[in-house]
Amino acid sequence: MTDNALNQASLQIEAARADATRRPTIAAFFDEATNTVSYVVSDPATNKAAIIDSVLDYEAASGRTDDRSAKLIIEYVKTNNLEVEWLLETHAHADHLSAAPYLQERLGGKLAIGKDIRIVQDVFGKLFNAGTDFQRDGSQFDHLFDDGDKFAIGTLDAIALHVPGHTPADMAFVIGDAAFVGDTIFMPDFGTARADFPGGDARRLYRSIRRLLTLPRETRLFLCHDYKAPGRDEYAWETTVGLQRDYNVHVRDGVSEDEFVVMRTARDRTLTMPDLIMPSVQVNIRGGRLPEPEDNGVSYIKIPINAV
Ligand SMILES: [Fe+2]
Repeated sequence: MTDNALNQASLQIEAARADATRRPTIAAFFDEATNTVSYVVSDPATNKAAIIDSVLDYEAASGRTDDRSAKLIIEYVKTNNLEVEWLLETHAHADHLSAAPYLQERLGGKLAIGKDIRIVQDVFGKLFNAGTDFQRDGSQFDHLFDDGDKFAIGTLDAIALHVPGHTPADMAFVIGDAAFVGDTIFMPDFGTARADFPGGDARRLYRSIRRLLTLPRETRLFLCHDYKAPGRDEYAWETTVGLQRDYNVHVRDGVSEDEFVVMRTARDRTLTMPDLIMPSVQVNIRGGRLPEPEDNGVSYIKIPINAV
């Protein structure tokens, strides 16, 4: 079966590898509180940029948000005279709140996510009994990507790939020679993302990852999280397709789909839910906006009891 989107992405990567002007400048911002990596990806020729998976700090005990992490991104954008065209979310995160609306207000750009966010909105809309006011059509975002959609950051070529499994809506963004793979694969010594959230599917995750690993071996992969790994003291978030195929502890070449599903399912049973899943999901399915304030002007986060 030909995979047109994958072929287009591979051609784009080869072209960028052959021509430095087609390669992005990449700045990573690591949030140690949630182990999340946010990226600012920019075109050196035009200073146009995309911000991927930004973090709004949130303290669960007090219910307070903070813009510490977001301000670091704003400072970088301003210092480098960048013009933000896109605020990209690889998926509706369950471990941190998105700062995309906060950044959009200050820096501009279009907020975008995968089109199957509508499925995620439906699943969690029901779980949180969000009511009929909560639109489940993705309209909280400015743009919804389909698999294979091409876009641009200044003069840089980019393509969106649908890589479901961790959630139904996960996207990877291939920009020049670099792929931002969200929560699919992690560093080779750590493995892969969990697939047990509502709507997750280990079999789909395996297929999405193996699809990404058919990109050229030299493709630079940028991950959404790192948790270190036994024997590693430093955080890391950049690797390559080749290294993943040779060494990934969960999905290197030779690991079958069934073997992966057995391993992933067993491992997921041992994991507790992320500390911030309740606030994160309720905010992120709204495009990173807090739930509508109640009549006293305060926004509330719900917790469904014995439901997850
Ligand atoms: Fe995630």
